[in-house]
Amino acid sequence: MRLCINIDHIATLREARGGVEPDPVTAAQICELAGAEGIVCHLREDRRHINDRDLRLLRETVKTKLDLEMAATEEIVKIAIETLPELVTFVPERRQELTTEGGLDVRGHKHHLGDVIKEMHRHDIEVSLFIDPKAEQVEAAREVETDKIEIHTGEFAGARNEREQLELLEVVRTSAKLARELGMGVNAGHGLNYLNVQMMCSVTEIEEMSIGHSIISRAVFVGLDRAVREMLALVR
Ligand code: PXP
Repeated sequence: MRLCINIDHIATLREARGGVEPDPVTAAQICELAGAEGIVCHLREDRRHINDRDLRLLRETVKTKLDLEMAATEEIVKIAIETLPELVTFVPERRQELTTEGGLDVRGHKHHLGDVIKEMHRHDIEVSLFIDPKAEQVEAAREVETDKIEIHTGEFAGARNEREQLELLEVVRTSAKLARELGMGVNAGHGLNYLNVQMMCSVTEIEEMSIGHSIISRAVFVGLDRAVREMLALVR
């Protein structure tokens, strides 16, 4: 199980003052030095946190693997091709949302997603689709020939009690198994934290966890290096 860290919220903090600190590029280096196996950032259409300069410098400095979360729009697709991250993760994007709120409707956008995935593959960029743990979305993901899916774990993370949490864990497991049977790689993320991540690690089909908010929040109190190492110890 690999841990990839989303550093968007370092940039969110910088944007709160519109200055130059804290710098997400420095954060990425600290995460890598602490043992993170990948760095994730989301270049949003409105550039509310990560901006073009961050992405350019992250591409130059990330030594593990860069996962660019993005909407499948013309502008961002062009930037991805210029940047050449190791992985792009397509996510739905709505301007009003606080964070990515649901998975992609792959079934409803097969044509467009199929085209952009081919475009990414022409440039040797691996592709992941962020989807809810639903069989019809997993099957549609296979049809558009993505390499991987990232299962949205937000519902699991928001469970109100242990029974609900266990039920939602099995929902994730079923989709992860199906994806592997269909030949796709499986990542997972959203809402994972120091209390629930080990339960999610019992889904052995998951190869990579993408975690942001909980690690950056803990870093405010214990420092980023320690926050990353503590999460790594749980994941491993
Ligand atoms: N994966 C995807 C596709 C996301 O959009 C996000 C949130 O930016 C995450 C993982 C990480 O979620 P969290 O910040 O809740 O750990």
